[in-house]
Amino acid sequence: MTAPLKHSASVTVDVALGDRAYDIVIGRDVLASLGERVAALRPGVRTAIVTDRTVAKHWLEPAEASLAAAGVPTSRIVAEEGEGSKSYATLTQVSEALIAAKIERNDLVIALGGGVVGDLAGFAAAILRRGVDFVQVPTSLLAQVDSSVGGKTGINSPQGKNLIGAFHQPVLVIADTSVLDTLSPRQFRAGYAEVAKYGILGDEAFFAWLEKNHADIVSGGAGREHAIATSCRAKAAIVSRDERETGERALLNLGHTFGHALEAATGFSDRLFHGEGVSVGMVLAAEFSAQLGMISSDDAARIARHLSAVGLPTRLQDIAGFTQEGLADADALLALMAQDKKVKRGKLTFILLEAVGRAVIANNVEPPPVRDFLQAKLKA
Ligand code: GLY
Repeated sequence: MTAPLKHSASVTVDVALGDRAYDIVIGRDVLASLGERVAALRPGVRTAIVTDRTVAKHWLEPAEASLAAAGVPTSRIVAEEGEGSKSYATLTQVSEALIAAKIERNDLVIALGGGVVGDLAGFAAAILRRGVDFVQVPTSLLAQVDSSVGGKTGINSPQGKNLIGAFHQPVLVIADTSVLDTLSPRQFRAGYAEVAKYGILGDEAFFAWLEKNHADIVSGGAGREHAIATSCRAKAAIVSRDERETGERALLNLGHTFGHALEAATGFSDRLFHGEGVSVGMVLAAEFSAQLGMISSDDAARIARHLSAVGLPTRLQDIAGFTQEGLADADALLALMAQDKKVKRGKLTFILLEAVGRAVIANNVEPPPVRDFLQAKLKA
């Protein structure tokens, strides 16, 4: 795959969902066009920006200035940062604040932040007055290529991640690639795992392009926009064919059955960011596929090599604190998988690989071989 490695003004990807279709606008400095785009989409609308403290420091004022310049009234709701905000308590605070801000049925909620803010604000919008539209302004790489697109919104239950939620599509996504310059390298790499995911699950040529161009993506060169646009196109295509995950959308969960269990086993803490769990999870899924004879061990090693070259963890032993604090044992990891939404009547659903660039849904996986596989990996 070749792509012009120069910055373009912006790229628009369409999410084709009939009367709920929307644009993803991708490019450097497109945040400045937020107000103008909102005013064009919904003349006369009021807005409320939901964000978190860290994002607010960098991007709240530019977002408000853009809205003010276009004559769009707005108010701000600032939540604590971190996964802990995907909670009933924060949902209550945000919902009450939206009501206090007089956000009505025809108004707009604007989610300005990473995946946590997008999921939380999107869910608050989904249930406020039985559904208010919202705009996603994702400020992390992970949110730009995955969570801001496709309408999955929600919070965590004490019993598991994303167990309370709704499908609620945004009406617009503004992905400003220059805001990623303020992410920590670790946060950026974690989001990169989701970029690599699109190559691994469905596009070998994109994966080969990533193998050559990952440094340009990290440094903010024009390859970054190409990688984000390609990822969004891949996600938009899948979501437009299977919005409610009755089939192929599950492919987007590549690496997530293992990954979510690892996140839970590390207490959803800074030991393992979501994207890092997906990175380890994708390598485990590839190695498990190789063990089942579905792909070669060279293909599994190729995936691990690329993720490792980017600086992502690829083995259980790479997870922070593995030596000191350990991880759950194989049975406990299996029990955590059983809590996930990827279990039906005692059988696990895994996304496995038939090739680099060809993932399949395996929804009848018996737990014992998975336990043996994990046991071996924990000792490796
Ligand atoms: N993040 C997976 C999905 O949106 O379906």
